[in-house]
Amino acid sequence: MSILTFLARRFIAGEKIEDALKVIRKLNQNGITTTLDILGENVKSEQEAAQKADNYIQALEMIDKEKLNSHASIKLTQMGLDVSDGFCYDNVSRIFEKAASLNNFVRVDMEGSDYTGRTLDLVYRWHEAFPKMGTVIQAMLFRSLEDIKELNRRKIRVRLCKGAYREPKQIAFQDRRDINTNFLTLTKLLLREGVYPAIGTHDEKLIEATREFAQKEGIGKDKYEFQMLYGIRRGLQLRLTQEGYNVRVYVPYGTHWLPYYLRRLREKRENLLFFISNFFRD
Ligand code: FDA
Repeated sequence: MSILTFLARRFIAGEKIEDALKVIRKLNQNGITTTLDILGENVKSEQEAAQKADNYIQALEMIDKEKLNSHASIKLTQMGLDVSDGFCYDNVSRIFEKAASLNNFVRVDMEGSDYTGRTLDLVYRWHEAFPKMGTVIQAMLFRSLEDIKELNRRKIRVRLCKGAYREPKQIAFQDRRDINTNFLTLTKLLLREGVYPAIGTHDEKLIEATREFAQKEGIGKDKYEFQMLYGIRRGLQLRLTQEGYNVRVYVPYGTHWLPYYLRRLREKRENLLFFISNFFRD
């Protein structure tokens, strides 16, 4: 195992589906549900994108066979969005068909803002054919309030997160405080009018504010869930579960881990320092 692979293992279940299933099994035993992600993005060929969809179909079958409690999360640029919207639609529809036949749920992750509009247009089409699906909205984007209103109107499930991509100041909040304020505004809208929203953050202040708001409004713990990433704030994941909240952990696996890993490094300065100090150690 290279030093890089060793370091990435903090955030990634492993390179093989068996590694991910092992992690899912353990989380499930602790009362935590999961969503499985096969790492990869910006795939340029139809052949590779079709192969990735096949991998998801196999993974859904394995989850079902073992009766594990796990959804799946997909990225559209892994599914051929850079090839064409039409190809991507058909390719991902195969995953939704399989999930529907197994009564499972699949969520479309949100990538950089160049893809937001196209992703949502496809999500609206898919949701009409495959209701057991949802998507992700990023609190850092100015457009997100209107997008959530539309998703709520269509009764599409939303995972709210801060946003992991660098975005220009013309379209996105840059200051953390502004992102957090918008996160809370959008959380309230989702809790009041959305369908079983997922609050995707490790930020304890936002988690606390979510809990307080839900309690004040009489919104039960079964009406929403918290979501966190594999390897981040494990103690908090367990604590919330023990307090009776629904917690779902995003479990990525695969060999194309570098972009995902770099996004996680960027989120916290100490991660970067840890990476640099280990990378240059003999
Ligand atoms: P913030 O970054 O402020 O972190 C709050 C605290 O959490 C930190 O102080 C630290 O304790 C801990 N923490 C957070 N990140 C850490 C890290 N990398 N290493 C160590 N500790 C860390 N984004 C996106 O653009 N599209 C998507 O589809 C998704 N999907 C998604 C799913 C799920 C389940 C989650 C939780 C997140 C995403 N994201 C995402 C990522 C999201 O946009 C965001 O970048 C990260 O969650 C980090 O933001 P926080 O809300 O955790 O707050």
